[in-house]
Amino acid sequence: TRSPFVDYDYLIKVVVVGDSGVGKSQLVARFTRNEFSTNSRQTIGVEFATKTIKVESRSICAQLWDTAGEERYRALASAYYRGAVGVLLVYDVTNMKSYQNIAHWLSEIKAYTLPTCQVLMVGNKIDLKGVRKITEPQAKTFASSNGMKYVETSALECTNVADSFTTLVHGIY
Ligand code: GTP
Ligand code: MG
Repeated sequence: TRSPFVDYDYLIKVVVVGDSGVGKSQLVARFTRNEFSTNSRQTIGVEFATKTIKVESRSICAQLWDTAGEERYRALASAYYRGAVGVLLVYDVTNMKSYQNIAHWLSEIKAYTLPTCQVLMVGNKIDLKGVRKITEPQAKTFASSNGMKYVETSALECTNVADSFTTLVHGIY
């Protein structure tokens, strides 16, 4: 039975990580408020948002920790991961460096989360077709060889955004 003070059955913590500028905050804005901004501000530390998702008959409230990609704003990185059951690891398909850094993010995730924590790799900005640097098969191969599912998104065009978050939550439940 549910408390009269909450409108969900479970509360889960999901952390969003990846290089600065890959679109983490815009993915969260799109998913939780259906908003997008072209002049998004760099995240400092962490920002919070929540979204309740239905999985079968249950309401799952995902508390999203939208973290800063910029190294100097990540002094508390270990605390961001504490208690997380899911991680969205985002890179930008037009930015090779952000793709190469996935390995770095994975080692941080492994250091600070439990082995049961689900990690979903997300290639964002697929609307920028002409300047794409990493192909979908290439990213998929990398993801599966590292035990991750892979999804491609555009926060701008609202492609696969809800799917990526719900895929992660379904992987948890
Ligand atoms: P930090 O907070 O510094 O870690 O960066 P972030 O990953 O949160 O990036 P943010 O969401 O602030 O987006 C950075 C820039 O990319 C902004 O100018 C966004 O408008 C743009 N952007 C985000 N998602 C997309 C997308 O899907 N397509 C395109 N074309 N631009 C995007
Ligand atoms: Mg941000």
